[in-house]
Amino acid sequence: MKYLGIDIGTGGSRAVVIDEAGAVLASRTAGHAAFASPEIGWAEQDPRDWWRASVETVRGVLESVPAREIGAVSFSGQMHGSVMLDSADEVVRPALLWCDQRTSAQCDEITATIGRERLIELVSNPAVTGFTLPKLLWVRENEPANWDRVRTVLLPKDYVRLRLTGEKASDVADSSGTLYFDVGNRRYSNEIMSALGLDADLFPPVFESVERTGAVNAAAAAETGLLEGTTVVAGAGDNAAGAVGMGIVKPGMLSATIGTSGVIFAVTDEPKLDLKGRIHTLCHAVPGRWHNTGVTLSAGLSFKWFRENLGGGLSYDQLTDEASEIPSGSNGLLWLPYLMGERTPHLDPNARAAFVGLTASHTRAHMTRAVFEGVAFSLRDSIEIFRELGARMESVRLGGGGATSEHWRQVQADVYGMPCETIEAEEGAAFGAAILAGVGAGEWSSVDEACEMSIRTNLRIDPDEKSSRVLDANYRAYSKLYDALKPVIAALGQ
Ligand code: XUL
Repeated sequence: MKYLGIDIGTGGSRAVVIDEAGAVLASRTAGHAAFASPEIGWAEQDPRDWWRASVETVRGVLESVPAREIGAVSFSGQMHGSVMLDSADEVVRPALLWCDQRTSAQCDEITATIGRERLIELVSNPAVTGFTLPKLLWVRENEPANWDRVRTVLLPKDYVRLRLTGEKASDVADSSGTLYFDVGNRRYSNEIMSALGLDADLFPPVFESVERTGAVNAAAAAETGLLEGTTVVAGAGDNAAGAVGMGIVKPGMLSATIGTSGVIFAVTDEPKLDLKGRIHTLCHAVPGRWHNTGVTLSAGLSFKWFRENLGGGLSYDQLTDEASEIPSGSNGLLWLPYLMGERTPHLDPNARAAFVGLTASHTRAHMTRAVFEGVAFSLRDSIEIFRELGARMESVRLGGGGATSEHWRQVQADVYGMPCETIEAEEGAAFGAAILAGVGAGEWSSVDEACEMSIRTNLRIDPDEKSSRVLDANYRAYSKLYDALKPVIAALGQ
């Protein structure tokens, strides 16, 4: 049989069909309407638009793969969003998204009610604006008439599941990003719900990512072209599904993905809590496993910003070629990549970026190399926290734009001080969702087996000892920058 994965992202949705060997047979993408930002820092989307885009992508892939060959469907999706439905399952108001920043007051309220450390003990994460719980409190406090009508709260991909199957369900990996989910025990946290006055009936039953949650119903079959009765499997949030798609499934495995933001993802066989709240701890899409993630907000964005403002009209490749002539350590020039504040390790929306150590002999090429090194230093901050928590780490699988350039790959290997590898074909979170569908339908006995079958590495990059030594020294200097600059940034006051 063939397996269909649908990723409900922010910019668009993507459907991927794979065969029994994990080879991609068809893929299709459809854009979403840009998210609305009625006030600065707000981000909202209409869930019905995700369904529209999902239908379009599914119809698209079924042009090349007959519906009768689809053995199961599963999902990946943007995490943390709040879909609020009334008693007729109609959307009450647009969903607040993962990147919505309006909920600082509600985060303070949650922390004050539960206690900072107790919150991390209960749900493994601190209150951060992106997570779901503070969004619900915001609507309850600011839009009581809307809140009175809310009977069901779903995560983004679970709304698409509801439209596809008529069933309300979620999975442990995505639910881990809500702040009302007991990540350690893989079930809802009744203590959090009752402390904050939320009715447990608002939330759907939760399944492991590889469990069946229902089947395509007649109405959805007519809309999508899938056969009525096709099995639907739980799936996962996009970070966990993306990791499955890169084969990051076993304890000791680690990935560093550099897109606009950068994510370090480490698999563990038990929840590793950071009581300081610097990283996230979530259930993995693999039963009995967890993961930690650390986020650098301006990773690829640092290079994009640099090219657009200081790149002299050169392409990314030309800038990278120039930078590869510069010695490791950029002759003492450092880049602190906090163009948009930072999540890991500082959780500080007001942090600022800086070049530090410029002299008259530095050139644009030094600055480009410093940007690569600074982004890798920032990702290493997450790795150092994982290490401090006792996570086992042997090698790093590179993904995203940071994996496509030889120079940036080597910088990463030298900064992380571990061998790095890349995979043959990076197909992303929809591919991970298709693997979860296949495991749920019994095509493979486990996610491990599915990944072994379908994901192959193609490059191995060993750290260069001499370069690693230089970069270690620079990393130690870099580690002092945030605290050193904090009073300067505060004095700028704008
Ligand atoms: C994860 C997160 C993002 C969204 C984006 O914590 O905020 O990766 O899931 O889709």
